[in-house]
Parts: sequence; structure tokens; C-alpha cells
Amino acid sequence: MNSLKDIVSKKQNKGLRGVITIPPDKSISHRSLIFAAQTGARVKISNFSYGADCRATLEVIKALGCEVDFTDERTLILNAPKSFNAPDKVLDCGNSGTSMRLLSGMLASRNFNSTLAGDESLSKRPMKRIIEPLGLMGAKIKSNDFKAPLEIIGAKLNPIEYFSPISSAQVKSCILLAGVNTSGVTTVYEKTLSRNHSEKMFEYLEADIQTGRDEKGFYTKIQKSKLVPKDIEIAGDISSAAFFMVMAAIAPNSEIIIKNVGINPTRTGILDVFDKMSVNYEILNKNIVSNEETGDIKVSYSPNLKGCEISGEIIPRLIDELPVIAVLASAADGQTTVSDAQDLRNKESDRISSLVCGLKKIGVEIEEKSDGFIISGTNKNLKGGVEVETHLDHRLAMSYFTAGLICRDEILIKDFNWVNTSFPEFLELFSKISE
Ligand code: S3P
Repeated sequence: MNSLKDIVSKKQNKGLRGVITIPPDKSISHRSLIFAAQTGARVKISNFSYGADCRATLEVIKALGCEVDFTDERTLILNAPKSFNAPDKVLDCGNSGTSMRLLSGMLASRNFNSTLAGDESLSKRPMKRIIEPLGLMGAKIKSNDFKAPLEIIGAKLNPIEYFSPISSAQVKSCILLAGVNTSGVTTVYEKTLSRNHSEKMFEYLEADIQTGRDEKGFYTKIQKSKLVPKDIEIAGDISSAAFFMVMAAIAPNSEIIIKNVGINPTRTGILDVFDKMSVNYEILNKNIVSNEETGDIKVSYSPNLKGCEISGEIIPRLIDELPVIAVLASAADGQTTVSDAQDLRNKESDRISSLVCGLKKIGVEIEEKSDGFIISGTNKNLKGGVEVETHLDHRLAMSYFTAGLICRDEILIKDFNWVNTSFPEFLELFSKISE
């Protein structure tokens, strides 16, 4: 990230109106590259996310011998080698936890060594959650006290049955990516189901995979498989759409339609919260694209927002949306409590303490808890008139921008360019639907 830009967010008296298309899903974009790279053949990927995170994964798979040609800004042809080349440089994952954790799983079972590194934020994030299960499979990973950089000594792995202590799609996917290249059945259990894009893509590419639920929890079983090359089309990212959805709900006179958004049920916790909080929304034109559900989401100004409780099984289904849901809660009447979300402290920033600090400054009545926060709604009337920091975190930057729409005085958001991590065209899209 070279130029770090500060920007202003303020009330939009005419509301937000129009039809927009949101950037492609980041989680699915990472997976499309990592999975296509293992087909040993040619795969066309359409509507690929060109945010910095997915670019990091792209550079890594190129360093492993994949050839990638963009036919336009969002469409690429990936030619995968029959087997990967040993990389001759450190593999840079930038700001992206998904790149580092998923690629570790893919690389641990190879017959070469590799090193994965990241930026300042990623180098502070916990990697024990993947080093431990991969270690049980026989992988050898050297780390800086369970943090990046990770030096992976390639080895033949053994299958395991693993009960994940956290419901994390990155952990689950890491183990499944090691398992798909390991003889025998590798099983991952989680107590609550995290996003299942890896399972869906393995199914789509005809891997030997089984998912279900038994008395021990949600399981995924995978066996060594050759992935069948198929073209992959990626839907819009509901986590990016979430900012515009909340803006439309809180800014008077708004009505927007966001086209072609991924609505995989493991990602739509925010819609369940919309139901509880009385947000006016509709899903139109439902479809299935490359084994993932999609639809257009219409949201309009919602005058009677109510606070609610958010905890338990829903948390993994809205983990990335919690910062912007906090903004929605601050615009509601009554109290909203978020619990069981302690893993928010391990994201691009400690999203509990940095969010509480930023929103407090803006005028939100918010109290920090070890596993979440409590917000007393102010019915769309925040004072603003302050500067807030983004803490190297794209989702905080966009959440503060969203809060600016209900502030009496404008707010200045520092280092807003962190949005490039997932959503470089955020301001351009905003200008399309604002006055
Ligand atoms: C992701 C999983 C989630 C999410 C992250 C993307 C993925 O992380 O927060 O933005 O693509 O698998 P965890 O698996 O750590 O919860």
C-alpha cells in the first residue's frame, strides 16, 4: 500500500438510490485460484476479485508454476502445471490471512520447502490454529512463536480426524487442502458450521468429499482426489455488499439494488440480523453459479430499526460483517448485544478494541466485552466531528464511512486506502448511488 489517503464521510440528505454490482467474493476468489492450481490443467475464472488480498494468492500460485493470463480486468485463464515448481523466493501473503492459512495446507504435503510471509498486521495473527492440526498430520512447520513467517518443510502427510476448537473456515480449509493430497480419510469437525465455500468447490470439482452432521458436530471428510478442471464463476461478495446494505437501511430516502450477490447460507447471518432488527430488504432473481447460491439484494431505508441479541451459532455466519452491524445497531432503538465473537480480536486488527474505540469517538454508546460488545442505539443521531484511525483494517475503514452517513458533523477517516485489501472501487460505487 503506497499512498495512504484520508477521506471525509458525511450525511447524504437525498439518500442512496440506484443499482450497483459489488466486487467478487474474496473467499471464493482465493479458493478458485488455489483449487484450479491443483487441477494440472486449464481453468477459466470469471469475476475474480482484484483486491490486494486475492492478488497476493495469485502471485503465490504463479511462483509455484501456474501461468495466468487476464483476458479482461476480472476474467483470467489459469494454466496449472502437472506438479508445482519449488518456489525460489519467499511467498508474500501481504495482509491476507486466508492466503496464508489455505496455502499452508496446500503446501505442507508437497515434496519441496516453502516460506510464507506477510505484512505487519498478518505477522501478528495467530497461526497455531493451523500449525497444530498440520503437525498432527506429520507436517513440519517452523514459525516465529506460532506467527508468520512460516517455513514449511514439505512432507508426505497422514490423514487425521480433527475437532477444530474454533469454527474457522480458514482452519477447516487448510486441513482439507492438506487432506485432498493425502491417502486415507481426513475428517474435520466443527461445533458450529463456518463458511463452506471450500466444501462446495471440492464438490464442484468432483473431489471425494462428504459433509454432514452427527452427534459430535458438523463434519467434512475428504480423501485424496484429482480435481476435475472446470470453469469457475464467482458471485459478488456479501461481506462487501454489507456496507451498502447498511448504508441504505440507515440513510433516509434510500433504496438500492445490489446485483448478483453470493447468498450461501453460511454467509447470510447478516440477513437474519436484518430480520431481527426490522431492516426492509428483499432477495430477487435467485440463481446457482458454480455450485454457490446467488441473488440480487434490494434494501431500502428502514425507519424502525430495533436492537437485538447476536450470539452462538450465527457468529461464524456474519463474523466479517460485525463491524458494520455495530453501525446498524448504533442507528437502532434499544440495545444490541454481540457475544461469542472473541475471534474478532484475531482479524486484520483486534476488531473488538479498535471498533469500540473508533465508534466511541464518533458518539456511539458502546461497551467492550471480552467476546463482543454492547451498543445502546442512538436512533440515527451520532455526533461525529472527529478523526478515526483504521488500524490497517479495511472493514473498519468502510464501517466508519458507513457511520458517517448518520453523523451530525462529518468525520475524517485516516488511511482509508486500506479498503484496497478487498474493495478498491468502494468510493467509486458510492458516488454512483449518492447525490
Ligand atoms: C475466511 C474465513 C473467515 C473470515 C475471513 C475469510 C475464508 O476467517 O473472517 O475474512 O475465506 O475462509 P476465519 O476462518 O478465521 O473465521
